[in-house]
Amino acid sequence: MLNKSEARNCTPSGGCMTVRHFYPLLGFLIPTVIMGYGVVIPRSCIAGLNESSVGFGMSLLGACLAYWQGVRAALRGSNKRLKGVVRRPEFLARQARHPTGLLGALVGWIMSFETASENRMALWLLRLRPRDHILEIGFGHGRTIARAAGLAPLGKISGVEVSEQMAKMASRRNRRLIAAGRVDLRVSQDGRLPFPDQSFDKVYSVHTLYFWEDPAAQLCEIKRVMKPGACFALGFRPRDEQTQASFPDSVYRLHSLTEVQSLLVQAGFQDVRPESAPSSKGRVVFVLGTH
Ligand SMILES: C[S@@+](CC[C@H](N)C(=O)[O-])C[C@H]1O[C@@H](n2cnc3c(N)ncnc32)[C@H](O)[C@@H]1O
Repeated sequence: MLNKSEARNCTPSGGCMTVRHFYPLLGFLIPTVIMGYGVVIPRSCIAGLNESSVGFGMSLLGACLAYWQGVRAALRGSNKRLKGVVRRPEFLARQARHPTGLLGALVGWIMSFETASENRMALWLLRLRPRDHILEIGFGHGRTIARAAGLAPLGKISGVEVSEQMAKMASRRNRRLIAAGRVDLRVSQDGRLPFPDQSFDKVYSVHTLYFWEDPAAQLCEIKRVMKPGACFALGFRPRDEQTQASFPDSVYRLHSLTEVQSLLVQAGFQDVRPESAPSSKGRVVFVLGTH
């Protein structure tokens, strides 16, 4: 069965074909059929139904199919180029979701520069205090863990990741803090946070929401490890035309700001409110909530 978009003759990336796309083809087809079957064929030695006249019809059909496919390809291309945006290739998007191997290490290293401003913003929004016990979910390169440790010099920083490659990279970067018992980095791939209830004063996560299997369950799990009165900051690119065009939807599940706010409310967070972070690479927003 055709899905809705195929039935409307839409490309998977959203461009829809309309009758006006076929005007140039009709401009070629109508005179060719009239001249071919109306004038040339009847007056020539290939008149009637034979290999040559059927062959002529088949070439017209082939031209129509090629034209139709050409319009589809052009619509796909024009959609990708929305406002000069280039869609991130799927293999790189998969690496951002779960960095592995050498390419994962490279992606992690680039990310540490690319997302620095929004990560600084997350720490600023949380108003860290010297003795805070802090948790970062999806710490990636581990640069923000080091910064948080600097802002809470008498506190403890924990982190959880799905990627072993990132855990290695972040552990190398924070080896002295780990040796001093101030940083504790863990790998967990089942959505559970390997910490007891009511462990943390501050929790944050930046650019990981898109990859959560079950955002509602993940938020309940986050709330479980927060102390009463603790604060949570979630930073992400909200769903809009430009973000949708930039990231492949096979990897990135984008949410609107309103959706995320109501997910936090449903998970039982109090005082849920949005904050914007001006960022060099596009619009990033934060949703804050308290336990
Ligand atoms: C786009 S990177 C962002 C890294 C870092 N937070 C930053 O802002 O630079 C996403 C990171 O989240 C991790 N990640 C993805 N899903 C996760 C999950 N469910 N729990 C914890 N980490 C996750 C990935 O392994 C990756 O390192």
